[in-house]
Amino acid sequence: MIKTKITESFGIKYPILSAPMGPFYTTELSVAVSEAGGLGVVSHATLQGKSSIKDMEKQLDYVIEHTDKPFGLNIRTARVQTDHKIMLRKIAQLSNSNPKIREQLIYLLTSAGSPRNASKILKQKAPHIKHYHVGPALWLVDKIYASGCDGVVATGTEGGGHQSYEGISTLVLVQQVAQKYPEKPLIACGGIASPEGVAAGLAMGADAVAMGTRFIASSESEFHPNYKALIPPATARDTLLTTGGFGPIRLLKNKYCLEHGALITKEDKIKQELAYDLDGFMEDLHHYEIVYTKGDVDNGAIPVGQTCGLIDSIMDVGDILTSFTKEAEKILKNLCANIY
Ligand SMILES: Cc1cc2nc3c(=O)[nH]c(=O)nc-3n(C[C@H](O)[C@H](O)[C@H](O)COP(=O)(O)O)c2cc1C
Repeated sequence: MIKTKITESFGIKYPILSAPMGPFYTTELSVAVSEAGGLGVVSHATLQGKSSIKDMEKQLDYVIEHTDKPFGLNIRTARVQTDHKIMLRKIAQLSNSNPKIREQLIYLLTSAGSPRNASKILKQKAPHIKHYHVGPALWLVDKIYASGCDGVVATGTEGGGHQSYEGISTLVLVQQVAQKYPEKPLIACGGIASPEGVAAGLAMGADAVAMGTRFIASSESEFHPNYKALIPPATARDTLLTTGGFGPIRLLKNKYCLEHGALITKEDKIKQELAYDLDGFMEDLHHYEIVYTKGDVDNGAIPVGQTCGLIDSIMDVGDILTSFTKEAEKILKNLCANIY
């Protein structure tokens, strides 16, 4: 058993969370992770042209029907993510009106934008929910704490999906945050997909780790089988940072990614956002939709981390949680035994 600030305050057995992976669904995955003793995190899923609010409610209902354990939810607060404020108000309302949601939805992770509005809404209307934000650089972590967040998910550039323009590795970032904020709860994310990674995250001062790509390649995740099948053979060299809806995004180097063009600067991205219309967004989303519905892994976008070089099989969620924690414990104990 590994006890940390996070296992204690979240009431979970293992210091492992599943990372959110919108626009894809991680509802079944979240149930599996929470049931097995980690913390499952439901994604801000925006596929299938549905109302994201209704879709979120449906996902929350699914989770509370299938597990009594705690879980979390992600809301992206990017400038172009226009539904986020109304989603946050809805979450606060659900948490105050539905006793199961109040008891189980203990963690809200915001990302891809500012945490300020979310922090205000949550502190006012649902202060019992722990509000964390994704921090990709130390100066942004300073802003996150100035906004009143309870904790940080320090996410380095080697991770899958959207990344910031900061380009800081998890190795450097987690040490910086742990040194500056030793009393605050810290989750390490990006580049972790092995027991060694779990041990390293904890050794650097994190209280838990979050993994995305490792959980895509799990029996229980609802990612298309064609997507899952790409991960075990992929190597750490098979991903590329290109430009996504909210900025840089790390994708598997497939046909879509290579044709998508090189990463553009932050200034050009802002210009692109200002010029974007609904058609632009729908076109972008289409490349995720075809992966989700048809398993079109050539013409679709396949976000994965460099961690795909560490993953050589599809595993059951329960096995990931138990074997990674047990092995990490062994690694840390062996290290201690060698210290005189
Ligand atoms: C398919 C995919 C979709 C993602 N979507 C989101 C998202 O909607 N919100 C978010 O905060 N992070 C998102 N991320 C980033 C993950 O939460 C996490 O930071 C990343 O997976 C960590 O790297 P790893 O995959 O190597 O574990 C996504 C990652 C992947 C792989």
